[in-house]
Amino acid sequence: MSNKKVVLAFSGGLDTSVCVKYLQNYHKLEVITATVDCGQGDDLAEISKKSKILGALKHVNIDAKKEFAEGFVNKSIMANGLYEGKYPLATALTRPLIATKIMEVATQEDAIAVAHGCTGKGNDQVRFDIAILSLDPSIKIIAPIREMNLTRDLEIKYAKKNKIPIDEEVKKYSTDTNMWGRAIEGGILEDPWIEPPESIFKLVKNLNIPDEYLELEFENGIPIGIDNQKMSLTDLIPYLNIKAGRHGIGVIDFIEDRVVGIKTREIYEAPAAQTIFVAHKDLEQLVLTKHELRFKQIVDDQWSWMVYSGLWFDPLREDLDRFIDATQKRVTGKVKVKLQNGSLKVVGRKSINSLYSQTLATYLSDSDFNQNLAKGFIELWGMETVVANRLSRNISRNKKREK
Ligand code: ARG
Repeated sequence: MSNKKVVLAFSGGLDTSVCVKYLQNYHKLEVITATVDCGQGDDLAEISKKSKILGALKHVNIDAKKEFAEGFVNKSIMANGLYEGKYPLATALTRPLIATKIMEVATQEDAIAVAHGCTGKGNDQVRFDIAILSLDPSIKIIAPIREMNLTRDLEIKYAKKNKIPIDEEVKKYSTDTNMWGRAIEGGILEDPWIEPPESIFKLVKNLNIPDEYLELEFENGIPIGIDNQKMSLTDLIPYLNIKAGRHGIGVIDFIEDRVVGIKTREIYEAPAAQTIFVAHKDLEQLVLTKHELRFKQIVDDQWSWMVYSGLWFDPLREDLDRFIDATQKRVTGKVKVKLQNGSLKVVGRKSINSLYSQTLATYLSDSDFNQNLAKGFIELWGMETVVANRLSRNISRNKKREK
């Protein structure tokens, strides 16, 4: 084998295990495997053992949980980051971070290439390739699964032939997990009519436990505590995943549009993300003006679309972040959430920056609001609408007469 080195983003799963063998046997490279921990909860010792069994030159574990929570997930919370209004971008957010870490190892190790285990059918190849090339346009990228045009069945065959250990779960579904959510696809789930069996879920369990209230505290758009207990985002998310997951909250099942033009049936479990988004949006509704809210919705949607589509490193994403950041300076306060048998409800909110005024809104008692002013306001506000309708009526009347 040559002494040329490649750094592979390694999860220890089927795809990336197949990649190790292929990079060794076909490309004749020494493989350095790197696992970037974004809170997937995998056994890192087990992964490093697997890398050794596969004959890698070296394995590195990188703990990126804090960086992920406080440099990626936090931005997504402020941006209400949901793709097509549903998907919390869990996988999408890790890709630029993993790419950055892999590139750091490649520099340290003087590697000639980096590699990832993405297929040619998915979004992750788009995210990895654009991120890697944005960091260094001269680096060689090897994507073995895409290169070999492998399907899952062929991968399993290849794995057996090359004595790569695979577990039973792998044969049924393709999953991807981090602290912000878990994606489950493939197998019987590819039929969009089939209801997902309970057994596929790890976090969401409908345990029929008594209703529970939860107070989520935000500062500048970021959750900083639960029930008067301050927590870093890195600790708060896993805590909330368990807490909301036990109430059966956080399943998303929908038909998603991939970047590469394929529609896909996706199932996610993301109890913390769903709870935080509901609460965050509610608090924004309390403290932002209606003009800010309308415009921010457009910006949030563009942000989510860009992150989904592999454009984390595009300058526009950062420009949007500057706008979003600026809107969050008043998003401080508390939201009271009720967890009840699979449902999540906001039942209260408060903020020192609240724009809600009970004295103005009340129908019960007198306030400074002069109702007489409303008449003139409505006349001017509706003026064009009233005129346009008169003109339309005239047009249809004239048409009838012509007939
Ligand atoms: N569809 C999602 C995305 O593109 C999740 C992909 C998860 N990957 C997996 N191997 N199941 O971000």
